[in-house]
Amino acid sequence: SPAPRVTRRLAADAEGITETARLLREGGLVALPTETVYGLAADATSGKAVAGIYAAKERPSFNPLIAHLPSIEAARREGMFDANALALAKAFWPGPLTLVVPISSGCTVSELARAGLDSVALRVPAHPLAHAVLEAAGRPIAAPSANRSGRVSATSAAHVLADLDGRIDAVLDAGPTVIGVESTIVACLDGAPKLLRPGGVPRAAIEGVIGRSLVLAGEAGAAPVSPGLLASHYAPAAQVRLEAEAPRAGEAWLGFGPERAGFIAPGIALNLSPMGDLAEAAANLFGYMRQLDAQGPAAIAIAPIPESGLGEAINDRLRRAAAPR
Ligand code: TXA
Ligand code: MG
Repeated sequence: SPAPRVTRRLAADAEGITETARLLREGGLVALPTETVYGLAADATSGKAVAGIYAAKERPSFNPLIAHLPSIEAARREGMFDANALALAKAFWPGPLTLVVPISSGCTVSELARAGLDSVALRVPAHPLAHAVLEAAGRPIAAPSANRSGRVSATSAAHVLADLDGRIDAVLDAGPTVIGVESTIVACLDGAPKLLRPGGVPRAAIEGVIGRSLVLAGEAGAAPVSPGLLASHYAPAAQVRLEAEAPRAGEAWLGFGPERAGFIAPGIALNLSPMGDLAEAAANLFGYMRQLDAQGPAAIAIAPIPESGLGEAINDRLRRAAAPR
């Protein structure tokens, strides 16, 4: 495990922003909120700082990171945007969209952050604190989700500390994140945009902008285009059983929508959204998985969730949580 650090909790105010930017410029590691999940931030231009991210997360260094920027203009200095990439950036930035594009000749994102690829993942987040830190840092900031590699992503400062206390310099605490699942990743590399990861921007919204349907890369047994899209991920300690009608003996229950007549909740049970609202379910997903897991059930049974809208991202994360380890 990495060299121990004292992890400070910074408040979501002007001082916290200034201190976060200072730590980042000095090569430190700070977990900060975005509108999707907390990110573990470091100076993307510094190989040394980026190496700290991989060590703290115990993340394999063949898995590249997203570089975060304060504006489209700043992002366009790092990568080459074709017409689709530009249209998507204009439609959804700032917001929960990541674009993978070819690197520009002036790209400052370190090779380690890109895992040696000649493409770069770029995102302009919408969270006001993240935006303020990016402006103050004045350089691309690499930030994967602020969890140990393979575990459930962090949507609160408490989740960050559960995984990374003693491994990072600080966490900027702005309360729970609003969206709750990571950004949608679209690759614009060769004319035909590809969906690398469903996320906070629903597929239909992306398709509306590019005017055609998106292929999900990695479907139908294709080789993973995104090195990080490992089958097993977001894994709680408990086994996960999907599309469950009802919990079996000894299982915890994660419901969605109104419970069916005669439903008897087991001792450990939560409902992602009793009203059946997918945005509410996404916001609750990772926190509820951590809560259920903390009770130590042998397995978590999860109700079916529709594949529409944010449901595609929720089901993607659940399938990875249920994948063989
Ligand atoms: O919402 C989010 O996207 C959050 C917040 C913190 O911004 N970040 C996040 O990062 O989810 P991470 O590292 O957990 O996921 C980044 C994904 C990985 O699956 C990685 O393989 C993929 O982006 N990726 C990064 N650069 C890539 C590239 N050049 N080509 C293909 N995939 C890439
Ligand atoms: Mg992650």
